[in-house]
Amino acid sequence: MNKPLTNDVLSQWDHDHFFHPSTHLGQFARREMGNRIIQTAKGVHITDREGRSHLDAFAGLYCVNVGYGQTEISEAIAAQAHELAYYHSYVGHGTEASITLSRMIAERAPEGMNHVYYGMSGSDANETNVKLVWYYNNVLGRPQKKKIISRWRGYHGSGLVTGSLTGLELFHKKFDLPLSHVVHTDAPYYFRRADRDMTEAAFSADCAAKLEALIQREGPDTIAAFIGEPVLGTGGIVPPPEGYWAAIQAVLDKYDILLIADEVVTGFGRLGTMMGSEHYGMKPDLITIAKGLTSAYAPLSGSIVSDRMWKVLEQGTDEFGPIGHGWTYSAHPIGAAAGVANLKLLDSLDLVSNAGAVGGYLNAAMLQALGDHVNVGDVRGEGMLCAVELVRDRDDRVFFDASEKVGPRIVAAMFERGVIARAMPQGDIIGFAPPFPLTREQADEVVGVTKAAVEEVLG
Ligand SMILES: Cc1ncc(COP(=O)(O)O)c(C=O)c1O
Repeated sequence: MNKPLTNDVLSQWDHDHFFHPSTHLGQFARREMGNRIIQTAKGVHITDREGRSHLDAFAGLYCVNVGYGQTEISEAIAAQAHELAYYHSYVGHGTEASITLSRMIAERAPEGMNHVYYGMSGSDANETNVKLVWYYNNVLGRPQKKKIISRWRGYHGSGLVTGSLTGLELFHKKFDLPLSHVVHTDAPYYFRRADRDMTEAAFSADCAAKLEALIQREGPDTIAAFIGEPVLGTGGIVPPPEGYWAAIQAVLDKYDILLIADEVVTGFGRLGTMMGSEHYGMKPDLITIAKGLTSAYAPLSGSIVSDRMWKVLEQGTDEFGPIGHGWTYSAHPIGAAAGVANLKLLDSLDLVSNAGAVGGYLNAAMLQALGDHVNVGDVRGEGMLCAVELVRDRDDRVFFDASEKVGPRIVAAMFERGVIARAMPQGDIIGFAPPFPLTREQADEVVGVTKAAVEEVLG
Protein backbone atom coordinates (compact mmCIF):
# COMPACT_ATOMS: atom_id res chain seq x y z
CA MET A 1 0.00 0.00 0.00
CA ASN A 2 1.25 3.49 -0.82
CA LYS A 3 2.18 5.56 2.21
CA PRO A 4 -0.09 8.62 2.52
CA LEU A 5 1.62 11.84 1.51
CA THR A 6 2.52 14.08 4.40
CA ASN A 7 1.64 17.77 4.38
CA ASP A 8 5.35 18.60 4.27
CA VAL A 9 5.92 16.58 1.10
CA LEU A 10 2.87 18.06 -0.61
CA SER A 11 3.93 21.52 0.42
CA GLN A 12 7.39 21.00 -1.04
CA TRP A 13 5.96 19.74 -4.35
CA ASP A 14 3.52 22.64 -4.35
CA HIS A 15 6.28 25.24 -4.07
CA ASP A 16 8.47 23.42 -6.56
CA HIS A 17 5.98 22.63 -9.33
CA PHE A 18 2.55 24.24 -9.08
CA PHE A 19 2.14 27.47 -11.07
CA HIS A 20 -0.76 29.04 -9.16
CA PRO A 21 -2.99 31.61 -10.86
CA SER A 22 -3.22 35.15 -9.49
CA THR A 23 -0.28 34.56 -7.15
CA HIS A 24 2.92 36.48 -6.43
CA LEU A 25 5.27 33.91 -7.95
CA GLY A 26 8.48 35.20 -6.38
CA GLN A 27 7.04 35.35 -2.87
CA PHE A 28 5.53 31.90 -3.27
CA ALA A 29 8.74 30.33 -4.52
CA ARG A 30 10.73 31.96 -1.71
CA ARG A 31 8.08 30.82 0.78
CA GLU A 32 7.43 34.37 1.89
CA MET A 33 3.77 33.50 1.59
CA GLY A 34 2.10 30.36 2.80
CA ASN A 35 0.16 27.77 0.88
CA ARG A 36 -3.01 26.09 1.95
CA ILE A 37 -4.03 22.60 0.97
CA ILE A 38 -7.79 22.12 1.10
CA GLN A 39 -9.05 18.67 1.78
CA THR A 40 -12.78 18.48 2.43
CA ALA A 41 -15.85 20.66 2.52
CA LYS A 42 -19.45 20.39 3.62
CA GLY A 43 -22.24 22.95 3.53
CA VAL A 44 -20.63 26.37 3.92
CA HIS A 45 -17.41 25.11 5.54
CA ILE A 46 -14.08 24.06 4.08
CA THR A 47 -11.36 22.16 5.93
CA ASP A 48 -7.67 22.04 5.11
CA ARG A 49 -5.16 19.23 5.57
CA GLU A 50 -4.10 20.63 8.91
CA GLY A 51 -7.65 20.21 10.14
CA ARG A 52 -8.53 23.92 10.25
CA SER A 53 -12.13 24.60 9.31
CA HIS A 54 -13.54 27.89 8.01
CA LEU A 55 -16.89 29.30 7.03
CA ASP A 56 -16.37 30.12 3.36
CA ALA A 57 -18.21 33.40 2.93
CA PHE A 58 -16.99 33.72 -0.66
CA ALA A 59 -18.17 30.28 -1.90
CA GLY A 60 -14.74 29.52 -3.39
CA LEU A 61 -14.63 32.20 -6.08
CA TYR A 62 -18.32 33.04 -5.82
CA CYS A 63 -19.14 29.77 -7.47
CA VAL A 64 -20.14 27.00 -5.03
CA ASN A 65 -23.66 28.38 -4.94
CA VAL A 66 -25.45 25.30 -3.64
CA GLY A 67 -22.81 24.76 -0.98
CA TYR A 68 -20.24 22.00 -0.63
CA GLY A 69 -20.83 18.27 -0.44
CA GLN A 70 -24.18 18.06 -2.22
CA THR A 71 -24.29 14.37 -2.97
CA GLU A 72 -27.01 14.65 -5.65
CA ILE A 73 -24.49 16.45 -7.83
CA SER A 74 -21.52 14.20 -7.11
CA GLU A 75 -23.68 11.14 -7.73
CA ALA A 76 -24.91 12.57 -11.04
CA ILE A 77 -21.28 13.19 -12.03
CA ALA A 78 -20.26 9.66 -11.05
CA ALA A 79 -23.20 8.08 -12.89
CA GLN A 80 -22.39 10.09 -16.02
CA ALA A 81 -18.71 9.18 -15.83
CA HIS A 82 -19.62 5.50 -15.62
CA GLU A 83 -22.16 5.59 -18.42
CA LEU A 84 -20.38 7.94 -20.81
CA ALA A 85 -17.44 10.05 -19.64
CA TYR A 86 -17.05 11.82 -22.95
CA TYR A 87 -18.36 12.32 -26.39
CA HIS A 88 -18.07 15.49 -28.46
CA SER A 89 -20.90 17.78 -29.46
CA TYR A 90 -19.71 18.69 -32.99
CA VAL A 91 -21.96 18.23 -36.05
CA GLY A 92 -25.15 17.61 -34.17
CA HIS A 93 -23.95 15.19 -31.45
CA GLY A 94 -25.30 15.46 -27.93
CA THR A 95 -26.10 13.53 -24.79
CA GLU A 96 -29.20 13.32 -22.68
CA ALA A 97 -27.49 15.57 -20.14
CA SER A 98 -26.39 18.27 -22.59
CA ILE A 99 -29.75 18.39 -24.35
CA THR A 100 -31.71 18.42 -21.09
CA LEU A 101 -29.48 21.13 -19.67
CA SER A 102 -30.01 23.30 -22.76
CA ARG A 103 -33.74 23.04 -22.26
CA MET A 104 -33.44 23.86 -18.55
CA ILE A 105 -31.29 26.92 -19.24
CA ALA A 106 -33.69 28.20 -21.92
CA GLU A 107 -36.55 27.84 -19.42
CA ARG A 108 -34.62 29.96 -16.90
CA ALA A 109 -33.30 32.57 -19.34
CA PRO A 110 -35.14 35.79 -20.21
CA GLU A 111 -37.82 35.42 -22.86
CA GLY A 112 -36.54 35.19 -26.42
CA MET A 113 -33.21 33.57 -25.47
CA ASN A 114 -33.33 29.94 -26.50
CA HIS A 115 -29.94 28.59 -27.59
CA VAL A 116 -26.85 27.77 -25.54
CA TYR A 117 -23.25 27.33 -26.70
CA TYR A 118 -21.07 25.61 -24.08
CA GLY A 119 -17.52 26.19 -22.91
CA MET A 120 -15.48 25.41 -19.82
CA SER A 121 -14.94 28.81 -18.21
CA GLY A 122 -16.39 32.28 -17.99
CA SER A 123 -13.38 33.50 -19.95
CA ASP A 124 -13.90 31.22 -22.91
CA ALA A 125 -17.65 31.92 -22.92
CA ASN A 126 -16.87 35.62 -23.31
CA GLU A 127 -14.38 34.83 -26.08
CA THR A 128 -17.25 32.99 -27.78
CA ASN A 129 -19.51 35.99 -27.27
CA VAL A 130 -17.09 38.38 -28.93
CA LYS A 131 -16.66 36.02 -31.88
CA LEU A 132 -20.44 35.67 -32.23
CA VAL A 133 -20.83 39.46 -32.19
CA TRP A 134 -18.21 39.83 -34.94
CA TYR A 135 -19.72 37.00 -37.00
CA TYR A 136 -23.18 38.57 -36.60
CA ASN A 137 -22.05 41.92 -37.96
CA ASN A 138 -20.12 40.29 -40.81
CA VAL A 139 -23.21 38.34 -41.85
CA LEU A 140 -25.20 41.58 -41.71
CA GLY A 141 -22.64 43.23 -44.00
CA ARG A 142 -21.26 45.65 -41.38
CA PRO A 143 -17.63 44.57 -41.20
CA GLN A 144 -16.52 47.83 -39.58
CA LYS A 145 -18.95 47.45 -36.60
CA LYS A 146 -16.63 45.47 -34.33
CA LYS A 147 -15.54 47.36 -31.22
CA ILE A 148 -16.71 46.21 -27.82
CA ILE A 149 -17.28 48.67 -24.98
CA SER A 150 -16.59 47.44 -21.48
CA ARG A 151 -16.44 49.27 -18.14
CA TRP A 152 -13.45 50.14 -16.02
CA ARG A 153 -13.58 47.72 -13.07
CA GLY A 154 -15.56 45.19 -15.11
CA TYR A 155 -14.26 41.62 -14.90
CA HIS A 156 -14.79 39.36 -17.89
CA GLY A 157 -11.93 36.89 -17.78
CA SER A 158 -8.22 36.46 -18.33
CA GLY A 159 -7.91 35.55 -22.01
CA LEU A 160 -6.61 37.88 -24.71
CA VAL A 161 -9.93 39.46 -25.63
CA THR A 162 -11.53 38.85 -22.24
CA GLY A 163 -8.50 40.12 -20.35
CA SER A 164 -8.85 43.22 -22.54
CA LEU A 165 -12.53 43.54 -21.65
CA THR A 166 -11.61 43.26 -17.99
CA GLY A 167 -11.15 46.82 -16.77
CA LEU A 168 -8.61 46.16 -14.02
CA GLU A 169 -5.08 47.34 -14.53
CA LEU A 170 -3.46 44.26 -13.00
CA PHE A 171 -4.90 42.13 -15.78
CA HIS A 172 -3.41 44.36 -18.50
CA LYS A 173 -0.05 45.23 -17.03
CA LYS A 174 2.88 43.66 -18.93
CA PHE A 175 0.53 41.53 -21.04
CA ASP A 176 0.23 44.10 -23.84
CA LEU A 177 -3.49 44.44 -23.17
CA PRO A 178 -6.04 45.77 -23.91
CA LEU A 179 -6.12 44.76 -27.56
CA SER A 180 -7.53 47.19 -30.09
CA HIS A 181 -11.28 46.66 -30.62
CA VAL A 182 -11.87 47.11 -26.89
CA VAL A 183 -12.69 50.49 -25.35
CA HIS A 184 -13.62 51.25 -21.76
CA THR A 185 -16.21 53.54 -20.27
CA ASP A 186 -16.83 54.66 -16.68
CA ALA A 187 -17.76 52.25 -13.92
CA PRO A 188 -21.20 52.84 -12.38
CA TYR A 189 -19.60 53.26 -8.97
CA TYR A 190 -21.83 55.71 -7.14
CA PHE A 191 -19.83 55.69 -3.90
CA ARG A 192 -16.72 56.86 -5.78
CA ARG A 193 -18.49 59.51 -7.90
CA ALA A 194 -16.52 62.68 -8.52
CA ASP A 195 -19.40 65.04 -7.74
CA ARG A 196 -20.61 64.12 -4.28
CA ASP A 197 -23.78 66.19 -4.62
CA MET A 198 -25.06 64.10 -7.50
CA THR A 199 -28.12 61.92 -6.85
CA GLU A 200 -28.04 58.28 -7.90
CA ALA A 201 -30.44 58.94 -10.75
CA ALA A 202 -28.35 61.88 -12.00
CA PHE A 203 -25.20 59.76 -11.72
CA SER A 204 -26.81 57.00 -13.85
CA ALA A 205 -27.82 59.57 -16.44
CA ASP A 206 -24.25 60.85 -16.41
CA CYS A 207 -22.84 57.32 -16.98
CA ALA A 208 -25.20 56.96 -19.96
CA ALA A 209 -24.17 60.39 -21.30
CA LYS A 210 -20.49 59.42 -21.01
CA LEU A 211 -21.20 56.19 -22.85
CA GLU A 212 -22.95 58.09 -25.61
CA ALA A 213 -20.08 60.57 -25.89
CA LEU A 214 -17.63 57.66 -26.22
CA ILE A 215 -19.78 56.09 -28.95
CA GLN A 216 -19.82 59.40 -30.78
CA ARG A 217 -16.05 59.79 -30.47
CA GLU A 218 -15.34 56.29 -31.72
CA GLY A 219 -18.03 56.41 -34.40
CA PRO A 220 -21.36 54.61 -33.83
CA ASP A 221 -20.80 52.48 -36.94
CA THR A 222 -17.71 50.95 -35.34
CA ILE A 223 -19.31 49.88 -32.04
CA ALA A 224 -20.72 46.35 -32.02
CA ALA A 225 -21.49 45.55 -28.40
CA PHE A 226 -21.44 46.63 -24.77
CA ILE A 227 -20.54 44.11 -22.08
CA GLY A 228 -21.37 44.47 -18.39
CA GLU A 229 -22.01 42.47 -15.26
CA PRO A 230 -25.46 43.27 -13.81
CA VAL A 231 -23.61 43.93 -10.52
CA LEU A 232 -19.90 44.78 -10.85
CA GLY A 233 -18.15 41.83 -9.18
CA THR A 234 -14.39 41.59 -8.92
CA GLY A 235 -14.15 45.34 -9.52
CA GLY A 236 -15.61 45.91 -6.05
CA ILE A 237 -19.09 44.29 -5.71
CA VAL A 238 -21.01 47.37 -6.80
CA PRO A 239 -24.74 47.15 -7.51
CA PRO A 240 -25.86 49.54 -10.25
CA PRO A 241 -27.17 52.93 -9.16
CA GLU A 242 -30.87 53.64 -9.60
CA GLY A 243 -31.95 53.72 -13.25
CA TYR A 244 -28.52 52.72 -14.59
CA TRP A 245 -29.43 49.78 -16.81
CA ALA A 246 -32.49 51.50 -18.30
CA ALA A 247 -30.36 54.53 -19.19
CA ILE A 248 -27.60 52.37 -20.71
CA GLN A 249 -30.10 50.23 -22.61
CA ALA A 250 -31.62 53.35 -24.21
CA VAL A 251 -28.22 54.41 -25.55
CA LEU A 252 -27.46 50.93 -26.88
CA ASP A 253 -30.83 50.73 -28.63
CA LYS A 254 -30.30 54.14 -30.19
CA TYR A 255 -27.06 53.03 -31.89
CA ASP A 256 -27.98 49.40 -32.62
CA ILE A 257 -25.38 48.07 -30.20
CA LEU A 258 -25.72 44.56 -28.78
CA LEU A 259 -25.75 43.96 -25.03
CA ILE A 260 -23.74 41.12 -23.49
CA ALA A 261 -24.84 40.53 -19.90
CA ASP A 262 -21.97 38.81 -18.12
CA GLU A 263 -23.85 36.74 -15.56
CA VAL A 264 -20.98 34.50 -14.55
CA VAL A 265 -21.52 35.65 -10.95
CA THR A 266 -25.17 36.72 -10.98
CA GLY A 267 -26.63 33.89 -13.09
CA PHE A 268 -28.76 31.23 -11.39
CA GLY A 269 -29.82 32.93 -8.26
CA ARG A 270 -27.12 34.98 -6.57
CA LEU A 271 -29.25 38.14 -6.54
CA GLY A 272 -32.31 36.29 -5.27
CA THR A 273 -33.74 36.07 -8.79
CA MET A 274 -32.86 33.44 -11.36
CA MET A 275 -30.96 35.86 -13.61
CA GLY A 276 -29.49 39.30 -12.94
CA SER A 277 -30.81 40.52 -16.30
CA GLU A 278 -34.31 39.88 -15.09
CA HIS A 279 -33.50 41.52 -11.74
CA TYR A 280 -32.57 44.80 -13.43
CA GLY A 281 -34.83 44.63 -16.51
CA MET A 282 -31.87 44.32 -18.90
CA LYS A 283 -32.51 43.14 -22.47
CA PRO A 284 -29.39 41.24 -23.41
CA ASP A 285 -28.58 39.68 -26.77
CA LEU A 286 -26.06 37.34 -25.17
CA ILE A 287 -25.72 36.13 -21.59
CA THR A 288 -22.50 34.67 -20.21
CA ILE A 289 -23.00 31.89 -17.66
CA ALA A 290 -20.47 29.78 -15.77
CA LYS A 291 -19.89 29.45 -12.02
CA GLY A 292 -23.48 29.03 -10.78
CA LEU A 293 -24.39 26.78 -13.71
CA THR A 294 -22.77 23.78 -12.02
CA SER A 295 -21.93 25.43 -8.67
CA ALA A 296 -18.36 24.61 -9.78
CA TYR A 297 -18.83 20.87 -9.19
CA ALA A 298 -17.50 20.53 -12.75
CA PRO A 299 -16.17 23.16 -15.17
CA LEU A 300 -18.88 24.34 -17.53
CA SER A 301 -19.84 27.68 -19.02
CA GLY A 302 -22.23 28.88 -21.65
CA SER A 303 -23.33 31.67 -23.94
CA ILE A 304 -27.09 32.07 -24.13
CA VAL A 305 -28.02 33.50 -27.51
CA SER A 306 -31.09 35.61 -28.25
CA ASP A 307 -33.48 34.62 -31.01
CA ARG A 308 -32.62 37.85 -32.83
CA MET A 309 -28.94 36.86 -33.04
CA TRP A 310 -29.73 33.22 -33.63
CA LYS A 311 -31.60 34.03 -36.85
CA VAL A 312 -28.55 35.84 -38.19
CA LEU A 313 -26.22 33.00 -37.16
CA GLU A 314 -28.44 30.54 -39.04
CA GLN A 315 -28.43 32.81 -42.05
CA GLY A 316 -24.61 32.95 -41.80
CA THR A 317 -24.17 29.21 -41.91
CA ASP A 318 -26.59 28.98 -44.84
CA GLU A 319 -24.29 31.38 -46.68
CA PHE A 320 -20.84 30.41 -45.41
CA GLY A 321 -21.09 26.83 -44.14
CA PRO A 322 -20.83 25.33 -40.64
CA ILE A 323 -19.83 27.75 -37.92
CA GLY A 324 -16.06 27.63 -37.45
CA HIS A 325 -16.05 27.67 -33.68
CA GLY A 326 -15.65 24.59 -31.51
CA TRP A 327 -14.08 23.36 -28.29
CA THR A 328 -13.31 19.68 -27.70
CA TYR A 329 -14.96 19.87 -24.31
CA SER A 330 -18.00 21.92 -25.32
CA ALA A 331 -21.03 20.48 -23.48
CA HIS A 332 -18.80 17.91 -21.78
CA PRO A 333 -21.18 15.21 -20.49
CA ILE A 334 -19.81 15.34 -16.95
CA GLY A 335 -20.21 19.12 -16.76
CA ALA A 336 -23.68 18.85 -18.28
CA ALA A 337 -24.73 16.17 -15.77
CA ALA A 338 -23.46 18.40 -12.96
CA GLY A 339 -25.43 21.33 -14.42
CA VAL A 340 -28.70 19.38 -14.59
CA ALA A 341 -28.33 18.13 -11.01
CA ASN A 342 -27.33 21.59 -9.79
CA LEU A 343 -30.30 23.39 -11.35
CA LYS A 344 -32.65 20.73 -9.99
CA LEU A 345 -31.19 21.22 -6.53
CA LEU A 346 -31.62 25.00 -6.71
CA ASP A 347 -35.33 24.35 -7.26
CA SER A 348 -35.86 21.48 -4.83
CA LEU A 349 -34.12 23.28 -1.95
CA ASP A 350 -35.60 26.65 -2.91
CA LEU A 351 -32.12 28.11 -2.82
CA VAL A 352 -32.77 31.15 -5.00
CA SER A 353 -35.35 32.43 -2.51
CA ASN A 354 -32.96 31.68 0.33
CA ALA A 355 -30.24 33.67 -1.45
CA GLY A 356 -32.62 36.62 -1.64
CA ALA A 357 -33.92 36.33 1.92
CA VAL A 358 -30.72 35.51 3.81
CA GLY A 359 -28.69 37.73 1.48
CA GLY A 360 -30.98 40.63 2.37
CA TYR A 361 -30.58 39.77 6.04
CA LEU A 362 -26.78 39.62 5.72
CA ASN A 363 -26.64 43.01 4.00
CA ALA A 364 -28.92 44.65 6.58
CA ALA A 365 -26.99 43.13 9.50
CA MET A 366 -23.65 44.23 8.01
CA LEU A 367 -24.91 47.79 7.63
CA GLN A 368 -26.28 47.77 11.15
CA ALA A 369 -23.03 46.45 12.64
CA LEU A 370 -20.54 48.50 10.64
CA GLY A 371 -22.40 51.43 9.14
CA ASP A 372 -21.34 53.80 11.92
CA HIS A 373 -17.68 52.83 12.10
CA VAL A 374 -15.50 55.88 11.30
CA ASN A 375 -13.52 53.95 8.69
CA VAL A 376 -16.44 52.33 6.91
CA GLY A 377 -17.29 54.41 3.86
CA ASP A 378 -19.87 52.15 2.28
CA VAL A 379 -21.76 48.93 2.95
CA ARG A 380 -23.51 47.72 -0.19
CA GLY A 381 -24.82 44.61 -1.82
CA GLU A 382 -27.67 42.75 -3.44
CA GLY A 383 -28.87 39.24 -2.63
CA MET A 384 -25.94 37.04 -1.63
CA LEU A 385 -23.40 39.69 -2.57
CA CYS A 386 -22.13 42.17 -0.03
CA ALA A 387 -19.17 44.55 0.28
CA VAL A 388 -17.71 46.74 2.99
CA GLU A 389 -15.47 49.54 1.74
CA LEU A 390 -12.94 51.06 4.14
CA VAL A 391 -11.76 54.67 4.07
CA ARG A 392 -9.26 56.68 6.06
CA ASP A 393 -11.65 59.61 6.37
CA ARG A 394 -15.29 59.14 5.79
CA ASP A 395 -16.36 62.79 5.70
CA ASP A 396 -13.82 63.74 3.06
CA ARG A 397 -13.86 60.24 1.50
CA VAL A 398 -10.10 59.82 1.64
CA PHE A 399 -8.93 56.31 0.82
CA PHE A 400 -6.11 54.41 2.47
CA ASP A 401 -2.90 54.00 0.56
CA ALA A 402 -2.75 50.57 -1.08
CA SER A 403 0.63 49.94 0.58
CA GLU A 404 -1.12 49.86 3.97
CA LYS A 405 -2.96 46.73 2.85
CA VAL A 406 -5.96 47.51 5.03
CA GLY A 407 -8.31 45.18 3.13
CA PRO A 408 -5.93 42.18 3.13
CA ARG A 409 -5.14 42.72 6.82
CA ILE A 410 -8.83 42.68 7.75
CA VAL A 411 -9.39 39.55 5.69
CA ALA A 412 -6.41 37.90 7.41
CA ALA A 413 -7.85 38.83 10.83
CA MET A 414 -11.18 37.33 9.77
CA PHE A 415 -9.42 34.16 8.69
CA GLU A 416 -7.93 33.81 12.15
CA ARG A 417 -11.48 34.03 13.52
CA GLY A 418 -12.76 31.29 11.20
CA VAL A 419 -14.37 33.17 8.30
CA ILE A 420 -13.13 33.51 4.74
CA ALA A 421 -13.95 36.76 2.92
CA ARG A 422 -12.15 38.23 -0.09
CA ALA A 423 -9.99 41.32 -0.19
CA MET A 424 -11.16 42.64 -3.55
CA PRO A 425 -8.24 43.53 -5.82
CA GLN A 426 -8.79 47.26 -6.37
CA GLY A 427 -9.46 49.23 -3.20
CA ASP A 428 -9.88 48.31 0.46
CA ILE A 429 -13.05 46.38 -0.11
CA ILE A 430 -14.07 43.27 1.83
CA GLY A 431 -16.20 41.08 -0.40
CA PHE A 432 -18.80 38.47 0.58
CA ALA A 433 -20.55 35.99 -1.70
CA PRO A 434 -21.60 33.07 0.49
CA PRO A 435 -23.15 29.82 -0.67
CA PHE A 436 -26.94 30.09 -0.92
CA PRO A 437 -27.80 27.68 1.94
CA LEU A 438 -26.27 30.15 4.44
CA THR A 439 -28.47 30.44 7.53
CA ARG A 440 -29.24 33.61 9.46
CA GLU A 441 -27.10 32.35 12.35
CA GLN A 442 -24.18 31.87 9.96
CA ALA A 443 -24.82 35.33 8.51
CA ASP A 444 -24.61 36.69 12.07
CA GLU A 445 -21.29 34.90 12.53
CA VAL A 446 -19.93 36.45 9.32
CA VAL A 447 -21.03 39.91 10.43
CA GLY A 448 -19.66 39.48 13.97
CA VAL A 449 -16.28 38.31 12.69
CA THR A 450 -16.11 41.16 10.17
CA LYS A 451 -16.82 43.72 12.88
CA ALA A 452 -14.24 42.23 15.22
CA ALA A 453 -11.61 42.14 12.47
CA VAL A 454 -12.29 45.74 11.37
CA GLU A 455 -11.95 46.86 15.00
CA GLU A 456 -8.76 44.84 15.47
CA VAL A 457 -7.10 46.42 12.42
CA LEU A 458 -8.53 49.94 12.52
CA GLY A 459 -9.63 50.38 16.12
C1 LIG B 1 -18.25 38.30 -14.26
C2 LIG B 1 -17.18 37.33 -14.63
N1 LIG B 1 -17.00 37.03 -15.92
C3 LIG B 1 -16.07 36.14 -16.31
C4 LIG B 1 -15.27 35.52 -15.40
C5 LIG B 1 -14.22 34.58 -15.85
O1 LIG B 1 -14.56 33.29 -15.52
P1 LIG B 1 -13.44 32.16 -15.45
O2 LIG B 1 -12.54 32.48 -14.32
O3 LIG B 1 -14.25 30.91 -15.27
O4 LIG B 1 -12.73 32.17 -16.75
C6 LIG B 1 -15.42 35.80 -14.03
C7 LIG B 1 -14.57 35.16 -13.02
O5 LIG B 1 -14.56 35.50 -11.87
C8 LIG B 1 -16.40 36.74 -13.64
O6 LIG B 1 -16.56 37.08 -12.36
